[in-house]
Amino acid sequence: MCGIVGYIGHRDAYPIVLNGLKRLEYRGYDSAGIALYDGNELKFSKTKGKVADLEKKLESQISTNGTIGIGHTRWATHGVPNDVNSHPHFSNSGDLVIIHNGIIENYEPLRQELINRGYTFQSDTDTEVLVNLIEDVKKKEKVKLGKAVQIALNQTIGAYAIAVFDKNKPNEIVVARLGSPLAIGVGENEFFIASDASPFLEFTKDAIYLEDGEMAVVRTHKKIKIRKIHDDSLVDPYVQELQMNLEQIEKGGYDHFMLKEIYEQPEAIKDTFRGRMLVDQGLIKMAGIDDHIDKFINARRILIVACGTSWHAGLVAEYIFEELARVPVEVEYASEFRYRNPVIDKDDVLIAISQSGETADTMAAIKLAKEKGAFVFGVCNVVGSSISRETHAGAYTHAGPEIGVASTKAFTTQITVLTLIALQLAKKKGKISTSDFHNYLRELEAIPQKVEKALESNDIIEQIADVYKNAKNCLYLGRGFNFPVALEGALKLKEISYIHAEGYPAAEMKHGPIALIDEEMPVVVIATLKGHYEKVVSNIQEIKSRSGKIIGIVTEGDVDVKNLADHVIEVPDTIEFLTPLLTTIPLQLLSYHIAVLLDKNVDQPRNLAKSVTVE
Ligand code: M6R
Repeated sequence: MCGIVGYIGHRDAYPIVLNGLKRLEYRGYDSAGIALYDGNELKFSKTKGKVADLEKKLESQISTNGTIGIGHTRWATHGVPNDVNSHPHFSNSGDLVIIHNGIIENYEPLRQELINRGYTFQSDTDTEVLVNLIEDVKKKEKVKLGKAVQIALNQTIGAYAIAVFDKNKPNEIVVARLGSPLAIGVGENEFFIASDASPFLEFTKDAIYLEDGEMAVVRTHKKIKIRKIHDDSLVDPYVQELQMNLEQIEKGGYDHFMLKEIYEQPEAIKDTFRGRMLVDQGLIKMAGIDDHIDKFINARRILIVACGTSWHAGLVAEYIFEELARVPVEVEYASEFRYRNPVIDKDDVLIAISQSGETADTMAAIKLAKEKGAFVFGVCNVVGSSISRETHAGAYTHAGPEIGVASTKAFTTQITVLTLIALQLAKKKGKISTSDFHNYLRELEAIPQKVEKALESNDIIEQIADVYKNAKNCLYLGRGFNFPVALEGALKLKEISYIHAEGYPAAEMKHGPIALIDEEMPVVVIATLKGHYEKVVSNIQEIKSRSGKIIGIVTEGDVDVKNLADHVIEVPDTIEFLTPLLTTIPLQLLSYHIAVLLDKNVDQPRNLAKSVTVE
């Protein structure tokens, strides 16, 4: 939920850490800070606000020389966002400096204990407690920093990715992780530390991803030694070659990452099925599924756990799996699932969906399901992420980095992967005919082009956005496969424009939300020809007769909705279960344009973070 960056080597640490923070700002952006050792003393600066504010402050405040440094961009958990609560945090002696992503849950008793031992605290944070605990252990036990970190961490409960160094020994940084990601970039006599690999892409393609419960002392001119925090055993470092490139994480001429990512969807969907869907041969090949197909075929039911947009993709998948593969599916919020003692057994298959692969609630749900003997399959976007490693098997979405906090291409590529899985399972279970299977593959192959067509409505959507940008509320309605798309459309509007929006199954409207309808209420209705069209048209009539304003998402050539609606946005025709891949596009663009017209921070909406690594 925060971004951490560090550097130790022969280059100037300042630009590396600062640029790294800019790339990690999607993880949190309510305050930022940096600490550097310039050869003589420890220099630091921290501030409420964004990395750009920190940069401004740094220009006037400190010299920025030095080859060791750490930085942090924060999403507040303990203590309001202000200068004092910003990271880095220092130990009482001023020797140790730390950055931390995560939550130390038992920080209160630890803090009390330290206060009793004479320690004082400037901030309200759990992190300041941790750095003083490390200092206390170091002094009491007379051990080196690495050992002190290990002993201290064994006294904590919670989650962390930390980087800490001692200004008296500025040739090493100690790092550790539990529940929050931490990557180490390995260069020639230099190391980069970060929450993900984006801060060091231009310097090295070699990365080590620490596993949960591991720590390392990173020293220049030394090989990295990784240890288990709880028992001190050594672990062989696994150096992975990064596939990401710089271009993928830059805006490429678009005003915002969100817009770039919306427009990337045709390619992203192609990348998702490339090599997996062999249309000419009428085959799907997915090792993650094929190697475990018996688990899926014999599954008593499929459970899907996820959060936010990924949960919406799970709901779409529920409809698709049940329609095609005739297997019962239940979709759960990971955060609820993990705390309600769910009935799970070894005949259940659990699919966990997560763009980041780091969401704490989803991770906890996975662990619970594994403990109870279920087979756990992951659908993640970030390669090498914690969830992709924790699951028994999985399939990547291959959408490329998604930087905008509002998920767009992650959603459509998740649906694409889940559709491939449903189709493969339906075929293996003999639930669909060979000719239907072939037709479905052909239609899925045509989707990227149809998404491109849907994107052509951008200008019309911008005009509609202008009409409704000052709305206070908005309803989104859809039925069947498009009910979850209505939920997703509402979420997109809420999170980036701060307009209250709700998604409903269209028919459910008459059971309550209809009371809200008046001439001020825009209602976005997904009314594609395939998908209970007549019923949805009746729902539209109910809204019209109460003076509501209709924005219809319709199939090209539609007549009936056009006659009723105030505005229509067309999407190409496709088979019903693939319509979410098209109907979601105008909803993404509508929320994008409204947010831009309202001058909101589209890529970094208030209070949000891209990857939610806290409960
Ligand atoms: O990385 P994940 O897919 O696990 O993230 C889940 C949610 O936090 C995420 O989808 C969130 O709802 C997005 N901001 C929605 O746009």
